[in-house]
Amino acid sequence: MFFRSKSLIGIDIGSHSIKMVELSRSGGGFKLVRFAYAPLPPEAIVQGSFMNAPAISDVIRDAYAEGGFKAKDVAASVSGHSVIVKRISLPSQSEDELAETIRWEAEQYIPFDINEVHLDYQILQEATLDDQMDVLLVAAKKDLVDDYTSVIAEAGLNLAVMDVDAFALGNMYECNYDIDPDSAVAIVNIGASVININVVTNQVPIFTRDITSGGTQYTEEVQKSLGISFEEAEQIKIGGGANETATDVVPQEVEDAMREVSETLVGEIQRSLEFYRATTSDVPIQKVALCGGSAHVPGLDRLFEERIEVGFEMVDPLARIDIASSVDEEQVRELGPALGVAIGLGTRRADES
Ligand SMILES: Nc1ncnc2c1ncn2[C@@H]1O[C@H](COP(=O)(O)OP(=O)(O)OP(=O)(O)O)[C@@H](O)[C@H]1O
Ligand SMILES: [Mg+2]
Repeated sequence: MFFRSKSLIGIDIGSHSIKMVELSRSGGGFKLVRFAYAPLPPEAIVQGSFMNAPAISDVIRDAYAEGGFKAKDVAASVSGHSVIVKRISLPSQSEDELAETIRWEAEQYIPFDINEVHLDYQILQEATLDDQMDVLLVAAKKDLVDDYTSVIAEAGLNLAVMDVDAFALGNMYECNYDIDPDSAVAIVNIGASVININVVTNQVPIFTRDITSGGTQYTEEVQKSLGISFEEAEQIKIGGGANETATDVVPQEVEDAMREVSETLVGEIQRSLEFYRATTSDVPIQKVALCGGSAHVPGLDRLFEERIEVGFEMVDPLARIDIASSVDEEQVRELGPALGVAIGLGTRRADES
């Protein structure tokens, strides 16, 4: 009774689609007990901004009903330029002192007015020899958090946990894979409009970077090469994948256009990892772990394997998560890597902050 936690719905509001999951504890791990996936209308979210909030709320409300959800509390996450995650070093002090000084200390690390952000922090390492302590600082612009709160409220739900994509991905990874504590993993999430790169060590993001590119770029290049509509190009892009009946009709132009975008994206990701090595930390990156809906792009995995000097692995966000019989397992498996953020959010509990 005392340890019964309220159930919580993890909801990933992506620019392409909404993913909702509810996990329950199962033995030492988790079980997926409810699930819903729903595409968003185009232009509902543009460059991370909610351009059509009522449409987003409608899609959430419908997905909630379709997935048979009952809980009201949700966990959502933000990323992008309005979010800052930084590991900082401060003079050692008690938790009470830190609670008082953190706003002042944070000010110099945050490129926004301190009054316009929600601030959170976590002590990573108590005082070391030089009387310094390491603190993980998280700041998110209030505007952005307010947008999420109201879109979720309009759908009849309550935003109980506000997370950051990077942490959600770290949590998802941690509950599915064994982690070497002495090295870092670069979790690369390629969605429709953004690529999140999160270098995580011991569950803590030590480097995060967003690149405003992703699956949409493939679709646009296919569109250009064949002179067709965006919707048609999207169909061809997705159909040209593992689906055997479609592979033989993919024109060479499409393959070339796709390949070129993959080359560009992998190049940008490599540059970010080099930047990490040059500026951020000596902790070596052990491997790149790829997720996001665009991880499905044919040949992208092979290109990573060729180009990345470290290990590579395709993330299965459900590798160690059971799936309840009430959930459409085939749909969930097919979406696979696209569910990384949602699963990470689902591992949070309603009674934690
Ligand atoms: N089989 C497939 N082959 C190629 N691309 C695919 C496939 N399935 C999905 N995608 C692409 O993945 C993208 C959607 O991925 P995801 O669900 O991770 O994005 P999102 O979270 O909604 O968006 P974002 O996080 O970028 O705002 C779309 O561009 C879609 O076309
Ligand atoms: Mg996404």
